Amino acid sequence: MARKKDSVAPGQNALNTPYGGYFQREVPGPDPELTSTDPGTPMGEFMRRYWQPVCLSEKIDELPQPIRIMGEDLVAFRDLGGRVGVMHRHCSHRGASLEFGLPQEKGIRCCYHGWWYDIDGTILEMPEEPDDSPIKDKLCHGAYPAIERHGLVFAYMGPPDLKPDFHVYDSIDVPDNKIYAFSNWLPCNWLQVHENVADQAHISVFHNGVGSRALMEGAGADSTETSLPKAFSAESPVVENRVTDNGRTMVIITTRRVGDRVWVRNNHFMVPNYLEIAGVFEDLESQKYFAGASHVRWNVPHDDDSCSVFAWRYFNKESDPKGKGDSSKLGVEGGDFLEGLTGARPREERHRYPGDWDVLVGQRAIAVHAKENLAASDQGVAMWRKICRDALRDETQHHWAKPGNGGEAHFRGYVNDTVFFIPPLVDPAEDRDLLRDVGRRVTDIITDESLSPGRERKDEVRKRLQAFENEVCEAHGS
Ligand code: FES
Ligand SMILES: [Fe+2]
Repeated sequence: MARKKDSVAPGQNALNTPYGGYFQREVPGPDPELTSTDPGTPMGEFMRRYWQPVCLSEKIDELPQPIRIMGEDLVAFRDLGGRVGVMHRHCSHRGASLEFGLPQEKGIRCCYHGWWYDIDGTILEMPEEPDDSPIKDKLCHGAYPAIERHGLVFAYMGPPDLKPDFHVYDSIDVPDNKIYAFSNWLPCNWLQVHENVADQAHISVFHNGVGSRALMEGAGADSTETSLPKAFSAESPVVENRVTDNGRTMVIITTRRVGDRVWVRNNHFMVPNYLEIAGVFEDLESQKYFAGASHVRWNVPHDDDSCSVFAWRYFNKESDPKGKGDSSKLGVEGGDFLEGLTGARPREERHRYPGDWDVLVGQRAIAVHAKENLAASDQGVAMWRKICRDALRDETQHHWAKPGNGGEAHFRGYVNDTVFFIPPLVDPAEDRDLLRDVGRRVTDIITDESLSPGRERKDEVRKRLQAFENEVCEAHGS
């Protein structure tokens, strides 16, 4: 006989009953407004209004590459003239896969009956058809504009008349910046991968060895390769999140106290799926002002339950003065600053020392927001979801990319590492207030909208940061 559903003890409910798993068995559906990106979905159409990386250039050096992006089966290739093409995978004739196609001086020829397409989808030849066949004039194969930048192939998959300029953030403009591409595939939804960086609380726990067996086994906090450098493990950083650029971007402000250092780290998120991440080798040995990104990345859906991180890793003295990066470890399924970014490790090792890949994939194929209990430390995650929802629900599409003229659009990047020498205040509570103020002021300076993107802006920001550090030290008599 079925038991009554409300058989919880007095004073308790379905959620706070010890041994109450019985009451929590239902798993609601995901949050498709944000997680679904197939054609015609709100988020899918939003993402399609931006240039998106679709594969690494190295993948098409030899052969056409079958790819799947936002639920569309595509093929990427480089023709013999050196141009990149991204088009629907199945031939417009009888559906053969163009991954077996033959790149031509111009475009690609289907292997099955030889229909030959230019990179824009124009039919150039149909060998078995009469010369006066009307098909060529009536039909173009489905193709998308594509370009290559720094080892990534980008495609624009939105409405042709709304194609934006390619967005460039001035964080890329660093003296002697060497840029390498890498990618990581994950069998889970794009959003949980994106939110991982907004989830700063996991840095001082998960990447501090607490989340692995390293501490249990008596090893040091930074002893596993899924740990970040010691500087990241400062206790309870002050974390705040700020919406910027009229709701189009979000800055995470993480301010740490380590001895007489105050380290302000900013990661910068831009709608819909791009973000820039500050340094990953920080040792706090020297002062620095507005050091830039270690890497920037797009989290691109293949479909709703798989995605790839497509990234540019930046090598320069500013973000890695001691040259700890290793470009030989980049490329497909690459990464040189943290183990555990891919699922390629042995199962035993992943269980003992889980990495980001393991926890993100482990959140379910599509994380179920209705089962979460977001807490105070999840403000960045909540803010990012709100930014996306607001952008999707705004019928004016005010926050969406604007149509361009085929060139580049330039923006300010707010990614930052600033290390001040500011001795701690005696009262720990006052010192924490100081950290909060410093983080906020640094972010005010960096996000100043009156400064145009470019190196001059960066010089000016650095001058202001130095002046601010002096001001704080004078105010506290140090
Ligand atoms: S299926 Fe491609 S040419 Fe016939
Ligand atoms: Fe992480």
